[in-house]
Amino acid sequence: MQKSLARRGGDVTIRPATPADVHKIIDVNLATLPEHYSDSFFAELLRDSPETFIVAVLGGETIGYVMCRIEYGFSSIRRFGLGRKGHIVSLAVLVSCREKGVGTGLVQEALNGMRKRGCSEAYLEVRVGNVSAVHLYERLQFRIVSELPGYYRDGEPAILMSLSLEPKAG
Ligand SMILES: CC(C)(COP(=O)(O)OP(=O)(O)OC[C@H]1O[C@@H](n2cnc3c(N)ncnc32)[C@H](O)[C@@H]1OP(=O)(O)O)[C@@H](O)C(=O)NCCC(=O)NCCS
Repeated sequence: MQKSLARRGGDVTIRPATPADVHKIIDVNLATLPEHYSDSFFAELLRDSPETFIVAVLGGETIGYVMCRIEYGFSSIRRFGLGRKGHIVSLAVLVSCREKGVGTGLVQEALNGMRKRGCSEAYLEVRVGNVSAVHLYERLQFRIVSELPGYYRDGEPAILMSLSLEPKAG
């Protein structure tokens, strides 16, 4: 599925990534985040969870991505018990394209993919100091579950955030 979002500064297309997108996605990752991964890790997540590996494209240029892993295990919110979960592994938008709703659109599309894969929950880790990312997730109704001390290589703690994807009763 392909979504075209009319945004300030041009039309941004938000769509599932393809193998041809991976090298440009890696460039965005290198330019925006201190957490980097091997090329094979990107390819593996795309192969295993294509519905939740989403790219944002503007004028033929890759400007953002979100990649996730579908997992099975205990919920980060205990009352959900065991189940299928969508783990947001990495999200980034180029600095020049931020604050136009692209990050939000990427996560919303990944959440749709998780629902299609039967996930009952989405979760992620984010640096405690990453205010804009925490805000973005809170606007999408993610809740803070706990803090993970020393989670990142440089010693910064992470916040674990989670969102129920179960249909609301009533
Ligand atoms: C976190 C990140 C992905 C957000 O991307 P983004 O495209 O700027 O996200 P959005 O535009 O959807 O939302 C960001 C802000 O812009 C605002 N915004 C959205 N559309 C807007 C518009 N049309 N006009 C003005 N502001 C707008 C949102 O309200 C939001 O404000 P908030 O921070 O007060 O909540 C981006 O900052 C980034 O790549 N950071 C570095 C990597 C990173 O930290 N990744 C997350 C790791 S978990």
